[in-house]
Amino acid sequence: MIIRPRRLRTSEAMRQLVAQTHVSVSDLVYPMFVVEGQGIKAEISSMPDVYHFSIDTLLLECESVVQCGIQAVLLFGVIPQAKKDAIGSMAYQSDAIVAKAIDAIKQKFPKLLVIADVCLCEYTDHGHCGIVKHDKILNDPTVPLLAKTALCYAKAGADVVAPSDMMDGRVQAIREALDQDGFEDVLIMSYSAKYASAFYGPFREAAGSAPIFGDRKTYQMDYRNQDEAVKEVLLDIQEGADIVMVKPAGAYLDIITRIADTVNMPVAAYQVSGEYAMLKAAAQNGWIDEQKAVVESIYAIKRAGAKIILTYYAKQLAQWLKDV
Ligand code: PBG
Repeated sequence: MIIRPRRLRTSEAMRQLVAQTHVSVSDLVYPMFVVEGQGIKAEISSMPDVYHFSIDTLLLECESVVQCGIQAVLLFGVIPQAKKDAIGSMAYQSDAIVAKAIDAIKQKFPKLLVIADVCLCEYTDHGHCGIVKHDKILNDPTVPLLAKTALCYAKAGADVVAPSDMMDGRVQAIREALDQDGFEDVLIMSYSAKYASAFYGPFREAAGSAPIFGDRKTYQMDYRNQDEAVKEVLLDIQEGADIVMVKPAGAYLDIITRIADTVNMPVAAYQVSGEYAMLKAAAQNGWIDEQKAVVESIYAIKRAGAKIILTYYAKQLAQWLKDV
């Protein structure tokens, strides 16, 4: 007798019946870039269909985000080089671009979850995620500035703050700062296992945040390591993280699985700019079917164990997931 695994694949209905992995639009987070100005919707050249928005056009985009059924957006601020300084002051001023955007979104769409990325690299003139002295990225002087940034975004109405800097001890400092000011309900989604990755290339163009010297290898993780991811995640949980993230996603599915198997809290994974750009470029050349390849990539991330998926494809996926 032949054993026939193919029986479970005989029809569409049968395949649906036995499918083990499901992705819903409520799993997705849509990252957006906000700039100063009016009426701006400028496409990012390395990320087709991804834009810099001024706050007015950002609100229009949020309208369609909400209509798609997406529940959460992630905000990044982008400022001109001339406004940057050594300590990233524009990240945490009360009129910081991200703070203004959060406030505007929350007034118009109070139910849309707003996650604010917390980092200094978009605001420092050297492009590093922390304070620099003699070409060294200093940990401890950076942490209070990150806490200040997180508090600034919480005050503006952020539901979640998401530190993406990889400094040691920042989750604890952020939790304490939030609690002291009465923001105990603001969540921390920590970029816990964030690898030093070439897949962030297009983002650095989008955010103007490429470091002017060196790289991020003294703070972001070495892609040869797995145990370190577990250590970082457990530390962040101990320090008060509510959601832990693995980043990038596609080349790190083993890490997602290991973390999901280890912790008892929501795991997020970020399909980053380089993953997006690769899919987009191949699709634009007619080399892959964009919808099918993107949907497959997202199912892989979900199957690996991520509950939450951050992706620049979120809006299109809201449509495409209906066809699965
Ligand atoms: C800021 C930050 C980066 C990303 C998210 N937050 C860039 C970096 O670490 O250089 C990458 C996002 C993407 O590539 O889509 N630290």
